Amino acid sequence: MASNRFGELFTITTWGESHGKAIGVVIDGCPAGVALDEAMINEELERRAPGRSPHTSPRKERDQAEILSGVFEGRTTGTPISIMIRNSDPDSSKYEPIKHLLRPGHGNYTYLEKYGMFDYRGGGRASARETACRVAAGAVAKQLLKMEEIFVVAYIKQIEENRVEHLPSDFHKLLHAVRSSKLSIPCAQTEDAVIATLERARAEGDSLGGLVEFQIHGAPVGLGDPIYQKLEARLAAGMMSIPASKGFEIGSGFSAVQMAGSENNDIYSRTGEEVRTESNHAGGILAGISTGMPIVGRVAFKPTSSIKKTQSTLDLKGEEAQFTLPEGSRHDPCLALRAPAIVEAMAALTVADSLLMNRSARI
Ligand SMILES: Cc1cc2nc3c(=O)[nH]c(=O)nc-3n(C[C@H](O)[C@H](O)[C@H](O)COP(=O)(O)O)c2cc1C
Repeated sequence: MASNRFGELFTITTWGESHGKAIGVVIDGCPAGVALDEAMINEELERRAPGRSPHTSPRKERDQAEILSGVFEGRTTGTPISIMIRNSDPDSSKYEPIKHLLRPGHGNYTYLEKYGMFDYRGGGRASARETACRVAAGAVAKQLLKMEEIFVVAYIKQIEENRVEHLPSDFHKLLHAVRSSKLSIPCAQTEDAVIATLERARAEGDSLGGLVEFQIHGAPVGLGDPIYQKLEARLAAGMMSIPASKGFEIGSGFSAVQMAGSENNDIYSRTGEEVRTESNHAGGILAGISTGMPIVGRVAFKPTSSIKKTQSTLDLKGEEAQFTLPEGSRHDPCLALRAPAIVEAMAALTVADSLLMNRSARI
């Protein structure tokens, strides 16, 4: 199976399956001298983990990052950084009764057709457990970015009709609002409405999708390249590699379709030496290159496929069958609630990589 690597200079390669002994990531290309706080890696993993609130999957995986290499006396050495996370809660027995069925919305049909085999215990490599590795690597990238005063945040923008319309304009206030919400929703009123919506979906045995917005502050002018490595193309590739992500927007995104050029153009202005734009419909990127304005984008997540309702399917022999999630199965009624930590990780990895690539732009 190819394609387990992401990045050009700051690269990550993830390994492992959800029901194997452990999962992990090898980060190659991280410069020497980055002060690495292992506790911060674990805090990031905690933000992705299930069971943080009554509205995410109840399982209690204990995600503990173990740094195996590449760090000496609290600093990166420039050699590959290997991080391992043991799987402490892999209950495979629940998957036995459904192993002969095609699971609606899951990868077992495509995996079986492509590889001729499928690890039915939790989805194997298709499992979102792999995203814990990205979050661990993203935490390393964030610590590199902090040295350059570049910061990333992601939060729930919308679930069903409940949309966060007003955000704190100050980045640190926004970060505080996101981090103090159990659901990463930076608006108490929207959070209450979302909780009511989640309770309704749970009672109906159904699931919900969600929109996650991200912001990158402090990125200098010049990250990204004009053609195939456009910064938004690299961000899109990172975000669309997250399981269950179904859409990506940068700046005004799909709403630009309904705007006139006079509305969508960002007008330049200057404060002292600093060139800014009065609006940011471009989302901080022009011609594939960062403008120095905040980079803002959104990722759409589909509703969780595992639902309590019975659905028609086929078995492995192609016969019609009914698919019912086994009693006591663990799932996320709204997986988007766990996605902000992963979206932040993919943003941090992309920007860290682009930052290193930009060092070769001119002499
Ligand atoms: C953090 C996270 C948690 C997820 N948890 C579940 C889950 O509990 N049940 C489920 O059906 N899908 C879950 N998914 C989504 C599946 O992994 C994904 O839909 C499936 O592998 C098919 O891939 P695709 O949706 O990208 O086509 C989760 C995704 C993420 C990002």
